Amino acid sequence: MEMKRLLLEFRDVYLGYRGEVVLPSVNLLIEEGDFIGIVGPNGAGKTTLLRAIAGVLKPMKGQVIIHKPNLSLGYVPQRSLLEETYPLTAMEVVSMGLYKRVGVLRSVRKFEKKAREVLRVVGLEEMEKKLYRELSGGQKQKVLLARALVSEPEILLLDEPITDLDIASQKSMLDFLTHLNKEKGITILLVSHLLDVVAERAEKIVMLGDGKVVSGKRDEMLSPGMLREFFGLPRRGA
Ligand SMILES: Nc1ncnc2c1ncn2[C@@H]1O[C@H](COP(=O)(O)OP(=O)(O)OP(=O)(O)O)[C@@H](O)[C@H]1O
Ligand SMILES: [Mg+2]
Repeated sequence: MEMKRLLLEFRDVYLGYRGEVVLPSVNLLIEEGDFIGIVGPNGAGKTTLLRAIAGVLKPMKGQVIIHKPNLSLGYVPQRSLLEETYPLTAMEVVSMGLYKRVGVLRSVRKFEKKAREVLRVVGLEEMEKKLYRELSGGQKQKVLLARALVSEPEILLLDEPITDLDIASQKSMLDFLTHLNKEKGITILLVSHLLDVVAERAEKIVMLGDGKVVSGKRDEMLSPGMLREFFGLPRRGA
């Protein structure tokens, strides 16, 4: 069997807010080249889990072990808080992905070429000068994806990246993610409540619900018993 490099590990991790547990005892292995789908109903803790993987939410208990030094992550949040703060253009928002801790409006020019490249990749090359806050919901999602991609991260964390996209854009976004995963070897964690979409693309699935977290290979996770347990779906023909 092919041995994949272990990148990140959750050992009996408890996640929550202000002393209240949302996700108890999460055990999770993320290996290089994984395409992992994270599914579950609203409020199940998908965003909470992603934020813990991104390192912006500290665990209440347990260990998050990073097995590769300097592991780089790109995080596409579910909804951006950027919107109304500054009148930033699409290009400036994408460039922000490159200068992390430097001032927001400094030397965008230096990064223009790279930023333009990824804007083209997500199909928004015409929009670079448009103000981010004046873009549509789907266009904003694409700009946020471009921002996460521009630094060429090893792991890409995506929180509902396709929810606001039309059918054609959904497909091209998913094709693009599959390409990044298969051709560039980028490890992908995709949160979506669209189970069919996740089932089609992800090789491993993490299911959240009712304070439970179960993960495994796609085929094991999509068994009727498992689906019934997490989504209350009736058995076919029952
Ligand atoms: N900053 C916060 N402070 C306190 N509680 C929070 C916070 N963020 C989320 N929660 C709670 O944690 C639980 C899980 O929320 P989370 O946002 O992770 O769910 P989700 O699965 O991403 O839902 P959705 O599908 O609606 O995006 C919810 O009960 C929510 O109320
Ligand atoms: Mg969420």
